[in-house]
Parts: sequence; C-alpha cells; structure tokens
Amino acid sequence: MNEPIQRFDESRKLSERAQTLIPGGGHTYAKGPDQFPDHMPGIIERGHGCHVWDVDGKELIEYGMGLRAVTLGHAFAPVVAAVQRTLPSGTNFTRPARIEVECAEKFLSIVQWADMVKFCKDGSSALDGAVRLSRAYTGRDRIAICGDHPFFSTSDWFIGSTDMPGGIPQWVRSQTVKFRYNNLASLRELFARYPGEIACVIMEAARTEEPTENYLAGVQALCREHGTVFVLDEMITGFRWHLGGAQRVYGVTPDLAAFGKALANGFSLSALAGRRELMELGGSRHTRERVFLLSTTHGAESHALAAGIATMNVYQQEPVVERLYAQGKRLRTGLEQRTQALGLSEHVGVVSRDCNLLYFTRDAERQPSQPLRTLFLQELLRGGVLAPGFVVSYSHTDADIDRTLDVIEQALRVYKRALGEGVGALLQSRPVKPAFRKFG
Ligand SMILES: Cc1ncc(COP(=O)(O)O)c(C=O)c1O
Repeated sequence: MNEPIQRFDESRKLSERAQTLIPGGGHTYAKGPDQFPDHMPGIIERGHGCHVWDVDGKELIEYGMGLRAVTLGHAFAPVVAAVQRTLPSGTNFTRPARIEVECAEKFLSIVQWADMVKFCKDGSSALDGAVRLSRAYTGRDRIAICGDHPFFSTSDWFIGSTDMPGGIPQWVRSQTVKFRYNNLASLRELFARYPGEIACVIMEAARTEEPTENYLAGVQALCREHGTVFVLDEMITGFRWHLGGAQRVYGVTPDLAAFGKALANGFSLSALAGRRELMELGGSRHTRERVFLLSTTHGAESHALAAGIATMNVYQQEPVVERLYAQGKRLRTGLEQRTQALGLSEHVGVVSRDCNLLYFTRDAERQPSQPLRTLFLQELLRGGVLAPGFVVSYSHTDADIDRTLDVIEQALRVYKRALGEGVGALLQSRPVKPAFRKFG
C-alpha cells in the first residue's frame, strides 16, 4: 500500500487541458475528474474487450464500460465489421434509408409488445419524446417521476427536479413531481393531490431494489384509472435484465418505453417504443393535432443503425444476457466471500441484479462514505481495475473476474485498515463528489 503512486504524467496533462477546454473536463459528468481519485489514470487511449489502456500505457480491467453502453465489449468484432461494411455506402441521405426499416423490424422482433419505434441518439431524447407524446395525448402538463431513480433525461423537465436545477425556470420545475419506489400509496397521493393533471408516470421497472409483488401492476392500474401514460425507462434494464427488457422479467407492459445504452454496443442509438395509438401522433396518419416527435439531422446515421442490428443479432444468437448474470454472480460471490472473511460485510457490498452490480462503501458507523469510496476506487485502480461499479460485459472472462477479485481483496485489506486508523493517512486524493450538486 505504501508503494509510491505510479506516474500518470500524460493523463494529468491531458486532464488539465480537458478541464480548460471543456466544462467539467469531459462530455459526461459521470466520467469527470471529480468522480475518481485525482492522482489516477484520467484519460483513456483505447479499449479492447473489457480492457482499456490509459494514455500513459497502463492496462486496466474496466467495469461499466461507456456507462453500461458497451455490453458486448470494446471494439467487438461483429459490430465493428457491420459498421465498416456500411461506411463506404454513405451515412446520411435526403430520404430515409433502407436500414432504418431493417433496424425497426429487428428491434420490434425483440421488443414485441411495442407496435412502433422511433430511433434517436440518446436516452434523454427518447424520454423527452415520451414526455411530449404523453402531454399531447392527455392534454396535461404535469409529470410524475420515481424519486428513487437517479436519472431520466438531460432536459429541463428532469434536471429541474435534481439538486442541480440552475438555469431552469420555476414553472418547469413545478411541473415534475415525485413518488417513492415500491410505495403505491405515494403515487396514489400524487394522483389525489393533482387530479386530472398528470400526463405520465416515468420510472425504471427496477434498479437496486426488486419490485414488491404486484407493485408494477399497481402502478399500471393507477395510470389506467387516471388516464395517465405509463412510461418505462429501459435504458439500463433493456437487453440486460432480459433481452426484451425488464418488462419481460416482471410481466408488465408499459404504454411507452425508452431504450438505449446496450442497443448498439456503444454506438449512439436509442429508441422510443410504444403503442401505436400514442406513437402515431408523431406521424401524420391521423386526424389529431400532430406532435413533433424526435426529428434530428443525425437521428438515422446508417452506421449507428448497422451497429444496432449487429448488436441485436449477437443478443439473439449468443447467450449474452445469461453470461452477464453468470459473470456478475461469480464476482458477487467472490466479493462477498472476501468481505465476510475480513469482517467487512456491512461496510463494502454489492446491490442490484448480478447483471448490474453496484457497490456501497460505508464507514465505521455504517454510513455511506465518499472518502472510503475514493479509497476503494484508489486501491482498485492501483491494482489495475477501473470500477465505479461492477457492471460486467459479455467480454469479462473468468480470468478477468478472478483477477479483479484478487485486486478487490487487496483493496479490502486497505479499507479495513482505514476503518481502524482513519481514512486520512491512506487516501492519496481529495474525496470524490456526487455528480448532482449545486456548488463546486
Ligand atoms: C436510467 C437512465 N435513463 C436515461 C438516461 C439518459 O440517457 P442518455 O445519457 O443516453 O441521454 C440514463 C443515462 O445514464 C439512464 O441511466
């Protein structure tokens, strides 16, 4: 533990430049310098499978990979080949391309409850489309979101409800109201407080906590009773909980759902899928007022759609989801054996499904601790593991998981010392901070 921190000269230099040139030092807050220890590798050069190399040449086993977008692995050969085949034929035309229809057919052959799908580039836009459709369909403004789910969209209707609402008008903020997960009474209470005002209910089917029996069916029934659109955010759960999304696991069918992340193995492709009656409002084959639904210059880039089709083919032909669960289970079991052996089970542990492991770090009083999270990240990075969570990909082999467990064991030993001696002497960085916060 007391060996000197490796040199990360190029990483530091580029990270410094990034913060001068780009607000937040990158294009996604969750990847930012305040989310990781400050003396550790900051900038990535390339990746292959579940391994990445930083700009100083250090190799790391990576977890999460593109915020869970790269489900198959970095530079996954069949996806790269599909993109390469597409590129020489052009990427964007004046009329829709054949591949738009093919990708829609492929997607709807998997997400079978949906009648129609519209592709876009990110999950936020897909959910924004769901909000606009819901508001138009119901003639209402208010949106009810699950307050226990941390992220839905970069748009004002959601960001205005977070701890970082700067720049968002009060009127917009007031239109988004929150209910608690696994608590039907809290949703019922919102419907009672805002009768006839709630356009849609937006939530993930599950996150770290499983739904209690009949909870999701109860949400759906309340939505029906109040004429409210039921929207599931399948950005994380889609193609991970189950090939067809969390709704297949829990047997509940939403009116609209947003997919992204795993859809195209890291290429920019997301989808709003749903019932025809709602989705068709974004078209022109109806007599109602039309809704401007998801129409962007880059919405149908051919290579992103090709990546989507290739990725979905792999999901259909290979046991991807099964492997995500199996590798996650191997990691969970190994981690829990080690925390138990070291008497740390109440301080470090994993939550959520095996295919989506997140970890907690608690102090001696069993309270969540950012300094201890930073120390754990620091020690994982020292051992060559880059893991803001332990979300596995199809490319994580048994050897990768076992190597990670060795590193986890070393990190836990340091963690145990920190619980006894205090984290200060062992932590070689300022603590990480929550991404949503009002001030620096
Ligand atoms: C559950 C969930 N919904 C929506 C989004 C927004 O997706 P995007 O970043 O592609 O706009 C995210 C992003 O992390 C997410 O985790």
